[in-house]
Amino acid sequence: ARIRHYKWEVKYEFKSPDCFKKLVITINGRSPGPTIQAQQGDTIIVELKNSLLTENLAIHWHGIRQLGTPWFDGTEGVTQCPILPGDTFKYQFVVDRPGTYLYHSHYGMQREAGLYGMIKVSPRDPEPFTYDYERSILLNDWFHKSTYEQATGLSSKDPFVWVGEPQSLLINGRGRFNCSKLATPSLDAGVCNTSNPDCSPYVQTVIPGKTYRLRIGSLTALSALSFQIEGHNMTVVEADGHYVEPFVVQNLFLYSGETYSVLVKADRDPSRNYWITSNVVGRNRTTPPGLGVFNYYPNHPRRSPPSTPPSPPAWDDVKPRVAQSLAIKSHPAHIIKPPSTSDRVIVLLNTQNKIDGYFRWSVNNVSFTLPHTPYLVALKQNITDAFDQTPPPDGYDFAGYDISIVQNNTNATSSNGIYRLKFNTTVDIILQNANTMNKNNSETHPWHLHGHDFWVMGYGEGKFDVKSDPKKYNLVNPIMKNTVPVHTYGWTALRFRTDNPGVWAFHCHIEAHFFMGMGVVFEEGIERLGEIPSSIMGCGKTKGLHFKP
Ligand code: C2O
Ligand code: CU
Repeated sequence: ARIRHYKWEVKYEFKSPDCFKKLVITINGRSPGPTIQAQQGDTIIVELKNSLLTENLAIHWHGIRQLGTPWFDGTEGVTQCPILPGDTFKYQFVVDRPGTYLYHSHYGMQREAGLYGMIKVSPRDPEPFTYDYERSILLNDWFHKSTYEQATGLSSKDPFVWVGEPQSLLINGRGRFNCSKLATPSLDAGVCNTSNPDCSPYVQTVIPGKTYRLRIGSLTALSALSFQIEGHNMTVVEADGHYVEPFVVQNLFLYSGETYSVLVKADRDPSRNYWITSNVVGRNRTTPPGLGVFNYYPNHPRRSPPSTPPSPPAWDDVKPRVAQSLAIKSHPAHIIKPPSTSDRVIVLLNTQNKIDGYFRWSVNNVSFTLPHTPYLVALKQNITDAFDQTPPPDGYDFAGYDISIVQNNTNATSSNGIYRLKFNTTVDIILQNANTMNKNNSETHPWHLHGHDFWVMGYGEGKFDVKSDPKKYNLVNPIMKNTVPVHTYGWTALRFRTDNPGVWAFHCHIEAHFFMGMGVVFEEGIERLGEIPSSIMGCGKTKGLHFKP
């Protein structure tokens, strides 16, 4: 195994990813940031310099389990203090599993400003599929408001300002905003300019007859996406770093925080180019499609395909999305069997509500807030007044709660209490969706667990039944993932082993939802951890602790 050393400088720069000029957070001048490429078992060292001048920073390595290094998970408030402007923080961790992973800011709503990238880990052992070439595609949605405007709007009550729909969709950091749509046209031609090379569409050049492995990841702030390559089928072979029993799709649905590998054969009429499209699903889309070009060599890469881009599935058609979720099973030769029973079942009801007049999301009537002192430090240093010591509830009023109607959930409260899990046990999590505060509306939430891969035991419609639904769990070939959707008015059941000492966030990956309280935190095996590095301290009640006597 090798050591891969990266030196990154993070700063704000003016960029025009969708032709509209705004402040973007870059890593070494780029957004998306550089791809981390490693071999299974390698050690990654990232020396991260915060040159944001007026803003804190933390980067999370999404999908990397951080076995033995929970303090380098990069989750501000959970595993570390924020990195102050001017400071350099050293992340060091092992990429123990092959697969496609992501990284992104985990401080406030900073991810939205462009601080994200991909991690590719190649395997030691042969993979259950073959291909000629490999490429990666990182999808995102793009907002013109700054993270500050968004965060301030979400935490105001007079009036509450929702982030709204994205202005554009980016494919590998490139999109196209219709400059003529600017509310206040600017005389400064540089503000929005569709001939800016920053926003020329992404081009994927392919050689006719060859098979490509596309590693596709989504780090949208809000949107669920449908990804398509005009006229080409995609065979799904990997999900979140686990091999999938191959299945074929025309549209690949991706939720924020998910990654897939698909195989695509360049076997169509080679005399032309084809569209690559990304579209919003699950919300009534107002955002134009993200467009790229699937360029058959030797056609000119800038030659527009001779067709109109393929139309996406209806935004409100949940069926094909649920069907894809159900189709994702472990590859038969790579099954890791889940334990057949669990030691603890936690049912998490996801609701929208108002607390003291503020719009919030809650889980079992508790809206999550981050403490000022990271849990990991508070727990290791026995600082008991750093967060609420009362754990949130393991369930909700199953019998009395109707998930299909608007509920005011008036007894919701805010808390930073956490779940303490017994080490080396099996825990089931049932994510239960419900109606929002709008009539006949339920949203899709992609939930992401830090520090673990979990088995996806099942999905269901309506209210989860603790007695009968577990009988339908897939104990034979469930896929393992780190991010999973909870479909509208439905439930998703997960199982994991509490075998990774640390403190782990589990939350909706929609940035505004987590910001508004849609998350929980699990602690397990904290007593097994040795001394924590002093570099993660320095804030809140850990001030001064990082100075060794
Ligand atoms: Cu990719 Cu806690 O997030
Ligand atoms: Cu959500």
